Amino acid sequence: MIVLSLVFLATAYGSAFAHPSVRRDVSVTLPLEGGLNLARLASIVESDQARAVALMQRPHVGGQKRRSPSTSVDATNTAVYFTVQVGIGEPASQYTLLLDTGSGNTWVGANSSNPYHSTSTSHNTGKSSVNYGSGSFSGTEYTDKLDLGNGLVINDQSIGAANKTSGFEGDFDGILGIGPTDLTTGTLSDSDQSTVPTVVDGLKSQGKIREEILGMFYPPYAEQTSGSVTFGGVDDSHYTGPLSYVPITKTEPAGYYFGVNQTISYGDVEITSGAVSGIVDSGTSLILLASDHFKAYAEATGATQDSNTKMLSLPKDQFRNIKPLNFHIGDKTWTLNANAQIWPRSLNTALGGDDDHVYFVVGNLGERSGSGFDFINGYMFMQRFYTVFDSSNSRVGFATTKYTNSEAN
Ligand SMILES: *[C@@H]1O[C@H](CO)[C@@H](O)[C@H](O)[C@H]1NC(C)=O
Ligand SMILES: *[C@@H]1O[C@H](CO)[C@@H](O)[C@H](O)[C@H]1NC(C)=O
Ligand SMILES: *[C@@H]1O[C@H](CO)[C@@H](O)[C@H](O)[C@H]1NC(C)=O
Repeated sequence: MIVLSLVFLATAYGSAFAHPSVRRDVSVTLPLEGGLNLARLASIVESDQARAVALMQRPHVGGQKRRSPSTSVDATNTAVYFTVQVGIGEPASQYTLLLDTGSGNTWVGANSSNPYHSTSTSHNTGKSSVNYGSGSFSGTEYTDKLDLGNGLVINDQSIGAANKTSGFEGDFDGILGIGPTDLTTGTLSDSDQSTVPTVVDGLKSQGKIREEILGMFYPPYAEQTSGSVTFGGVDDSHYTGPLSYVPITKTEPAGYYFGVNQTISYGDVEITSGAVSGIVDSGTSLILLASDHFKAYAEATGATQDSNTKMLSLPKDQFRNIKPLNFHIGDKTWTLNANAQIWPRSLNTALGGDDDHVYFVVGNLGERSGSGFDFINGYMFMQRFYTVFDSSNSRVGFATTKYTNSEAN
């Protein structure tokens, strides 16, 4: 297993204490590493579908009891992911954690060579902790000091010390859950209904950020350049047009996550008839559409499913026929050009494909539309648009970046 994409930069803004009156919004930007788990690429579609099933099944908020995961959850390990470096304890042990907007829990122990270490700041709460979705884990809850760097230190953060995991084989040690707090409902043994403060809650309650806002920037793979995540605000050096927000969808289960309503068209072909609800998710690799919408997209592009990669593909000489794929969200349209709709060509063989074809990053969610969870705009979407996860104002924002219309692939 190899992790590609090694270039990244840190940009730190003053902390709340250093420049209390200079910056109205307190925010701190951290480097974001993009990982590609080549060992998983051959099953990227299955991995994404399994994660989608887990996310759809998980809702439990509002009195519904958490369902156990199906066996397919073992395959939810994402093939493409974002990671950040985190120190835990005093003295701190270093961990590489996957940044997951589809989870609220933070835990370590995915890599048995780098398990949770008890130090002077560790406190065993005596509760057991379980989580499904991004793979599954179970273990013990601790509270401990968690340091994201650049002054983003949280004391007594809830951390799961996993002693059993499945579905993880990336180059990371656990998950940094940056999803909504409600997603932690019932993850501790003490009660079906209790929640756990997320790291974003901890940063806010301890005065490190003023608002629960995360801005994520990650350029397309072919650009081989740095990404970053901003806690507490947005980093306007990373987007070009205005930021446009939409409220988190009221439709469940999408609304338990960073869910939005959107209408999709391909060229002038309607893929969805009217708006449907789904989620934006940093832990899903592809862009997944409900099976009927996926079929409409396949027909409109003329692509067929490749038996090796399970992805839609076209002979490369038909690439020029690919039309823009449009996501109408709120009153804005976010467009993926042809190169944004296909898998990086240099990684075709890693995927199990060949150089004579192009492979599409639009995949099948595996369920028909109408479930209240009809798409996932994953990593391949977020590579083209700056994305803002704003829990404080229950909204999601998008903006173009200098790479939105890039023809690099
Ligand atoms: C794993 O953690 C659970 C929950 O705290 C605990 O009950 C169990 O004994 C632990 N197992 C091992 C092998 O440490
Ligand atoms: C597991 O952690 C060890 C020690 O930090 C590290 O050398 C190794 O590369 C890690 N493996 C994976 C798969 O993350
Ligand atoms: C999203 O779509 C649903 C279903 O059509 C609708 O009820 C809701 O008002 C829309 N907007 C939001 C923000 O949920």
